[in-house]
Amino acid sequence: MISAQTWIKRFRQRTLGLFALAVAICFTAVACSGGGAQTGGAAGGIQPELVADYVHTALAADRTAYTKHVVNRAQKLEGKAKEDGVLAIEATEGWEQTNGIPLPAQMFRLGSEIASEDGTFTYNLISSWYINDNQGPKNDFEKTAIEKVNETGEAYKEYQEVGGQKYFSALYPDKAVAEACITCHNTHPVHKERYPDKVFEMGDVMGGIMINIPLEGA
Ligand code: HEC
Repeated sequence: MISAQTWIKRFRQRTLGLFALAVAICFTAVACSGGGAQTGGAAGGIQPELVADYVHTALAADRTAYTKHVVNRAQKLEGKAKEDGVLAIEATEGWEQTNGIPLPAQMFRLGSEIASEDGTFTYNLISSWYINDNQGPKNDFEKTAIEKVNETGEAYKEYQEVGGQKYFSALYPDKAVAEACITCHNTHPVHKERYPDKVFEMGDVMGGIMINIPLEGA
């Protein structure tokens, strides 16, 4: 049986590997664009939109795999016993205090914090109905992006400049794909206190995965 620690270590390693790959692709995209970063690269370069799509696919896949093959196999989820659980462990928001394992959104954030440590490439989860204060829309760009995603259910992609650095940014919808998403969020004490009128239903946009790809040297 693989310990949770080993899983976390592997997950981190993969996240860092992904980050290195993204940086390499970014570099190629910028290097090949001949200064025309806004148009997304000349022949042979990779369009930043495609880079964002690839990164998103990998991030979403890792989160789903962690949910399906680790969290779903835990015997307990937020204090409740799970019939199909085989690992004597609890997946819980208070994982650090209780020797449990992080919830998928927390695992995602732990990875994003590591990836953001030494570069301008960043990614994170945001939502209009955030439980974690760090995951609300932080600037006008994020506010517009999340409103559009809530409204259309489609990814929002646009260029932006932050502190002289150009980025291609994309916000991909994060939808309620499982009953557990809506049960847990709708009954979470922070959610109930802040958004008493917001009751998520299956298929709803619950937030989004934001990916910021730097286009020129910082
Ligand atoms: C067992 C409870 C639980 C389940 C199941 C769950 N979440 Fe969450 N979710 C949380 C908590 C707690 C946070 C805040 C975590 C943090 O500190 O980063 C969160 C964070 C998020 C965020 C970032 C915004 C915020 O609220 O801070 C999004 C978006 C999100 N979840 C979507 C989903 C989706 C989609 C699913 C199903 C695929 C899901 N969640 C399943 C508890 C849960």
